[in-house]
Amino acid sequence: MATYKIGYFVGSLASGSINRTLANALIRLAPDDLEFTEIPIKDLPLYSYDYDADFPPEGRALKNAIEGSDGVLFVSPEYNRSIPGALKNAIDWGSRPWAPIRLPASRPESSAPRRAASARP
Ligand SMILES: Cc1cc2nc3c(=O)[nH]c(=O)nc-3n(C[C@H](O)[C@H](O)[C@H](O)COP(=O)(O)O)c2cc1C
Repeated sequence: MATYKIGYFVGSLASGSINRTLANALIRLAPDDLEFTEIPIKDLPLYSYDYDADFPPEGRALKNAIEGSDGVLFVSPEYNRSIPGALKNAIDWGSRPWAPIRLPASRPESSAPRRAASARP
């Protein structure tokens, strides 16, 4: 049976993150041919193209992890009607100077505990 490597990002840096709990639940429910590895984001420096000449180990590790994945999964809270800055920073790291993160299709689902949360006018 072929297996597919899925790298997953947890957008929250909180120690008790409900999104990490959600990610773990999703992994338990996933088909056996998917193999999940978290791609850590919390120790990434804030991205600047100054780093493009010589990536720090955290940036290099993120790029290698994305390149080694067949797909990526984002499990994240919403912050101020957008994604948390830490996750945006990770995407910036992944997209420069070349672009290993391509998002041709995405399926946003809300993890918000309240019914009205994440509602859009
Ligand atoms: C800075 C900040 C901004 C937030 N902005 C939103 C928001 O725009 N919409 C929303 O539904 N929830 C918002 N929330 C609530 C979080 O999305 C919610 O508490 C989430 O469950 C936290 O996930 P975590 O436990 O994985 O960190 C915000 C929380 C924080 C800390």
